[in-house]
Amino acid sequence: MKLINHYLLLLPLIIFNSCNAQKKEKNVVSLKDSYKKEFYIGTALDVNQIEEKNAKEDSLIKKQFNAITAENIMKSMFVHPSKDKYDFAMSDKFIAYGEKNNMFIHGHTLIWHSQLAPWMAEIKDVAEMKAFMKNHITTIVSKYKGKIDSWDVVNEALNEDGTLRKSVFLNTLGEQYLVDAFKLAAAADPKADLYYNDYNNEEPAKRKGNIDLIKKIKEGGGKIDGVGIQAHWRLESPSIETIEESILAYSALGLKVAFTELDITVLPNPWDLKGADVNQNFEGSAKMNPYPDKLPDSVQVKLAERYASIFKLFLKHQDKISRVTFWGVHDGQSWLNDWPIKGRTNYPLLFDKNLKPKKAYQNVMKLKDTKE
Ligand code: G3I
Repeated sequence: MKLINHYLLLLPLIIFNSCNAQKKEKNVVSLKDSYKKEFYIGTALDVNQIEEKNAKEDSLIKKQFNAITAENIMKSMFVHPSKDKYDFAMSDKFIAYGEKNNMFIHGHTLIWHSQLAPWMAEIKDVAEMKAFMKNHITTIVSKYKGKIDSWDVVNEALNEDGTLRKSVFLNTLGEQYLVDAFKLAAAADPKADLYYNDYNNEEPAKRKGNIDLIKKIKEGGGKIDGVGIQAHWRLESPSIETIEESILAYSALGLKVAFTELDITVLPNPWDLKGADVNQNFEGSAKMNPYPDKLPDSVQVKLAERYASIFKLFLKHQDKISRVTFWGVHDGQSWLNDWPIKGRTNYPLLFDKNLKPKKAYQNVMKLKDTKE
């Protein structure tokens, strides 16, 4: 009897605690849930992630992200290895992964001068290049019509000064190739959102070139829905003002703005070294790889602050931004461990190589502190 009385006395406390636990569980939100009203939060997937090789990594991806881009496997050299042969084995798996997990699927990329199959780089004839573009774009976009939500139709067509890059496409077809690429993609899937994607296109000279390029595509009758700013950024640059000016300038053209490959390097850059010859071999140099074991707290804090100011800006302009995609899930996977110097240890993302959220993650989440 005494025991029952005791239990009755404790009952309100037990109920309170259990409600609180449920509420807490509800509050354990993710990036994608925190930002679901503003924009998609995406990540780039490598082959192992598409094939769900690592269960811990897989559950992190599903929990945190609602948009995916293939880091490499949809590039020309992989999907179109020879003139009469397409290989969709991996891209089919990538699409299935996105569909199964109800994710926004972004296609990267149709027309890019890099990672071309060797046979493509050999095309010199105008008619042959026209035929290639038609076949390549129509085949790939039609195959995934209604499945791929948006495409990087043309990637990195600009030089840093805003002029057009002398690629195999420009050299054969002139600037008309840009208009044609967008027309062909729109014809193959009128509902997919079509993007032009580049790096450093937030910088004034390249931005101006990018704006001219967008106008050219529109004037030529191409359908273009958005611009992708890759956002391979540094701790100190670009400035928030420069990024903001770009969001405003691109959206003033009636385009959606997506941040498509976000990461922030914390390592020294060979181009910043006075008199450094970038062709010099820096591999194995301790000076160029200062944090091989652990990121010092002071830099961890800087990275977290940098991410916070960037996401603050993204929130301010949420109505203009369609998607923010990180270029990789965790630090261990980042291309920045091997570029511009091979074999370094970089820390550019929100999760460390053991999949633990970093201070930068907490900062990005804090901006959306969801008290229910
Ligand atoms: O697949 C081979 C593998 O068989 C080989 O053993 C290994 C040895 O190095 O190389 C593997 O290929 C690498 C490939 O990534 C797949 O991992 C290439 O060397 C490497 O150069 C390639 O790098 C990719 C790079 O694009 C190529 O330009 C990066 O992973 C990828 O993150 C990067 O992504 C680009 C975007 O597509 C466009 N914007 C810039 C961004 C960063 O460069």
